[in-house]
Amino acid sequence: MPPTTEPDHPLLRVHDLRVAFDTPAGTVQAVDGVNFTVEAGRTLGLVGESGSGKSVTSLAVMGLHRRAKVSGSITLAGQELLGLSDRRFGRLRGRRMAMVFQDPLSALHPAYTVGEQIAEAHRHHFGSGRRVARRRAVEMLGEVGIPEPARRAGEYAHQFSGGMRQRAMIAMALSCEPELLVADEPTTALDVTVQAQILELIARLQQDRGLGVLMITHDLGVVARVAHDVLVMYGGRGAEQAPVDELFHSPAHPYTRGLLDSLPRLDEPDDAPLRAIPGSPPSPAEPRPGCPFEPRCPRAAAAPAPKRGRCAGESPRPGVVPGGGRLVACHLPLVPTVPHSGPPGGPPVPAEEA
Ligand SMILES: Nc1ncnc2c1ncn2[C@@H]1O[C@H](COP(=O)(O)OP(=O)(O)OP(=O)(O)O)[C@@H](O)[C@H]1O
Ligand code: SF4
Ligand SMILES: [Mg+2]
Repeated sequence: MPPTTEPDHPLLRVHDLRVAFDTPAGTVQAVDGVNFTVEAGRTLGLVGESGSGKSVTSLAVMGLHRRAKVSGSITLAGQELLGLSDRRFGRLRGRRMAMVFQDPLSALHPAYTVGEQIAEAHRHHFGSGRRVARRRAVEMLGEVGIPEPARRAGEYAHQFSGGMRQRAMIAMALSCEPELLVADEPTTALDVTVQAQILELIARLQQDRGLGVLMITHDLGVVARVAHDVLVMYGGRGAEQAPVDELFHSPAHPYTRGLLDSLPRLDEPDDAPLRAIPGSPPSPAEPRPGCPFEPRCPRAAAAPAPKRGRCAGESPRPGVVPGGGRLVACHLPLVPTVPHSGPPGGPPVPAEEA
């Protein structure tokens, strides 16, 4: 099915997204002003360390937060999703936007066969009869490369290997031909060969169907392989957004540089020490003023006292790298920027709003 994105609207647009949880220990501001877009036929890689707010962001896009305070704007082809009733969101979820979860075993129901679960999604969204829905389920399992799909459709999730479960999740997500696929660490638990197969599968389906993909991962290798653009998150905010080649070639944010430097390199001996970023990520339960990366930032540490003081006390606004669509939230970026009129606390705001 061709994408139904309205002209002039990106497929997905997230603007100034904030997600907070009330906990017995106080408010946890897990996502604090995040902005990005996903265009049809393109993949945005969402990267960052554990706890940076990737999953909370993706669950907000899918309307799956029950007890959180969610604010900002999330539009699908121009339609505002925040504030939709559960019923209306339920009609979109699965049909126009679908999610692949990190752990397929907990996302697939143990008491229904894999085929029944895929067929049920089709029946729910298209009102198709049992036989048609079952045929569609078998077709989809075949399309994602499950051997003997007709037989496998009658098996339960626990009878599938890890890679096959992940494929079944993708089959289920894509069975209703959504326009947007949100994939949260879809290959983390898989060995590298199966990982490569799953990523190729998503890329092929994207090409065939013009899918927009939001790919959440902490693995920069995965990002380099599949993403067109990348949003680096830190402490619940956007740190840097850039086309993938530019981000890898010349990172503008010290945190992005730290992530890239911590990758193992082929031109170094096996026993060379890893250059991990010292310290640990901030806790959203203990907000602090200034840049969230400041306590770990080598660039701030090396800066003269007034500049360091600014990093510690003032939240960096997004800046634009001239000549491209790159945004970076840093007082001392590694690449020169010009001011950008976005919300405090992080990039990116679409360029047309600058
Ligand atoms: N329901 C919740 N109640 C309170 N805090 C939460 C809740 N869900 C998430 N958080 C907190 O929000 C922050 C962001 O969590 P999130 O799951 O989005 O991280 P992540 O970037 O996906 O990390 P990972 O790479 O480990 O999956 C974390 O500090 C987490 O503890
Ligand atoms: S604003 Fe300062 S502390 Fe934050 S990343 Fe930039 S240089 Fe480092
Ligand atoms: Mg996560």
